[in-house]
Amino acid sequence: MSYNLLKGKRGLIFGALNEKSIAWKTAVKAYEEGATFVLSNTPVSLRLGNVRDLADQCNTVVIPADATKVEDLEAVVEQGTEHLGGKFDFVLHSIGMSPNVRKGRTYDDLDYNYLLQTIDISAVSFHKVLQVCRKMDAINDWGSVVALSYVAAQRTLYGYNDMADAKAMLESIARSFGYIYGREKKIRINTISQSPTMTTAGGGIMGFENLLDFTERMSPLGNATAEECADYIVTLFSDLTRKVTMQNLYHDGGYSSMGMSLKAMQIYNEGLEYRDVKQIE
Ligand SMILES: NC(=O)c1ccc[n+]([C@@H]2O[C@H](COP(=O)([O-])OP(=O)(O)OC[C@H]3O[C@@H](n4cnc5c(N)ncnc54)[C@H](O)[C@@H]3O)[C@@H](O)[C@H]2O)c1
Repeated sequence: MSYNLLKGKRGLIFGALNEKSIAWKTAVKAYEEGATFVLSNTPVSLRLGNVRDLADQCNTVVIPADATKVEDLEAVVEQGTEHLGGKFDFVLHSIGMSPNVRKGRTYDDLDYNYLLQTIDISAVSFHKVLQVCRKMDAINDWGSVVALSYVAAQRTLYGYNDMADAKAMLESIARSFGYIYGREKKIRINTISQSPTMTTAGGGIMGFENLLDFTERMSPLGNATAEECADYIVTLFSDLTRKVTMQNLYHDGGYSSMGMSLKAMQIYNEGLEYRDVKQIE
């Protein structure tokens, strides 16, 4: 069901690779809610994924860019605002990648060149997007910028590796830039801390299937899906959340407030009667 929440709004969406991507789901929802936007992703991902199909579906274009390259971002902003006929009202940064994770390097055996790439792609690129947009005055007053984070920024989760450091920095950038952009242009900047989600990036994390099962058991509302995340992002792009800024917003079915749940405890209590487990609860 559509509420026309984004009617008349223009946007820029980074990170749609395929149908599973959080950015893909967000683009579909934003289109349904009346927004116009341009899509961007790396030239390689344009070959590997099918983002051009998404562009056709949403009646828009894809502008190739490596988000770690300032000159690429400047071109996206210039071409994007020109294509849309005005400044952006919302920007989605849905970008993450760790070469250490990809190459199976553990946290106590990091390759430091890879670490710098992880930080550049997954965190500093967010600063670059914001700085380029601000210098080019590309976002309208009361605009909204969202990036995707994960609870590993606050708590240690086995296997998340150097992405945890990148997410901590990403959330810090949202606060630091949120102050500047907020005071100057009333532009809000938030991160959403999303449940583990079976996407290309998510599936690359060590032991991901087990992690999904664990967080499902631990979350009273269950894991949040990519589609549900897209719904939440749309509300943050809408005028209904104009005073929400500099926040890291958990979208995880309650996981981040849990310590232990009955469903997770049951795994350790096989052989016990349910009433015994009830007592433990
Ligand atoms: N899937 C999960 O479990 C999960 C949970 C919490 C947060 N997140 C975050 O959500 C965001 C989106 O990931 P996803 O799960 O939709 O996976 P995804 O693999 O579909 O999206 C990741 C995107 O990052 C893009 N990207 C990589 N390097 C880039 C670069 N240099 N420039 C521009 N784009 C680049 C990829 O092309 C891809 O489109 C990421 O920030 C991820 O860390 C994911």
